[in-house]
Amino acid sequence: MYTYKYPLTVKAVWWDETKREVCWINTLKLPFEEEVICSNDPVRVAKAIVEMEVRGAPAIGVIAALAVAAYANKLASENSPNVVEKLNEAIDLLWRTRPTAYNLFWALERMRKRLVASAGLSPRSLAGDLTEEALSILNEDIEANIKIGEYGADLVPEGATILTHCNAGALATSAFGTAEAIMRVAWYRGKKIKVIATETRPLLQGARLTVWELVKEGIPVTLITDNMAGYVIRKGLVDLVIVGADRITREGYVVNKIGTYMIALAAKRNNVPFYVAAPTSTIDLKSGIRDVVIEERNPMEVKTVMGRLITLENVKALNYAFDVTDPDLVTAIITEKGVVYPPFEENLRKTVER
Ligand code: MRU
Repeated sequence: MYTYKYPLTVKAVWWDETKREVCWINTLKLPFEEEVICSNDPVRVAKAIVEMEVRGAPAIGVIAALAVAAYANKLASENSPNVVEKLNEAIDLLWRTRPTAYNLFWALERMRKRLVASAGLSPRSLAGDLTEEALSILNEDIEANIKIGEYGADLVPEGATILTHCNAGALATSAFGTAEAIMRVAWYRGKKIKVIATETRPLLQGARLTVWELVKEGIPVTLITDNMAGYVIRKGLVDLVIVGADRITREGYVVNKIGTYMIALAAKRNNVPFYVAAPTSTIDLKSGIRDVVIEERNPMEVKTVMGRLITLENVKALNYAFDVTDPDLVTAIITEKGVVYPPFEENLRKTVER
């Protein structure tokens, strides 16, 4: 049983020890309904990731790891043959769900390594080992987020207005969030911060999720449309920007929700600090920006709002899920191992390998 320093007001993904299943909150139904789903079926969990019932870089890594553990428990209880082969297939399936966020691959690589190390054990012991590994990934995620919150809160001036994009909150991790961890800790320390949240088209993670979480926490939040961000920054309404990341390359490029780049440009032009909050499991030292696959999703997401068509059904639409922010637009990257300043290529490596 793990205990944490701060309340976990919202949890996105967790382990049900009685059922030995992974559970998650279906973010597609928020903020109108809090639906909880539990499963030990990797096909069901893969669907949850692809359809974005669970989304956000750390959250998809954690749920994928827990899904492998839950499946191992299911196979053991059924005395299933070919357990190792089936678990490898499950890892392959989860690996193919979304291409951009690094945490998914980071977590599944850890699960694969543990599977290889424990492959000779009985199915029951193997399930025990994989459960232990997945629970470490879950717990480390929460601990990392709390540390990010503490390092980041030191950088937030008293009474500051923070602009954030998408949802880098508890709902994008297992709990506590990354960018929102900083808001939480600043708030718990008594800093009277305010947040401006962009709605984040096409899937409205800002309007549906960030607003819901911050209201639950009691932190004042104002919603804007995505295309207001530049003007709001220019008008002097923003003291700092904090966003999350899906992947940070070895050179320090930040891959995050589509629209982040425009906000970073506006922040730079107006001398507003632009911070990125992410655990080191988001930093991919193996890849340069040219290796990163930017996910393109179904154009129907752009042509609809909450399932309702807003344009001509047959019009062509583009749906890039992420964009790329250049290292020179980033003031600092806040990780659980400390705040990383430029030059990023050198300092990210030192931080990750520390
Ligand atoms: O497409 P999504 O909703 O999975 O994208 C999420 C983001 O871009 C988040 O900003 C990012 O994962 C950071 S989460 C702490």
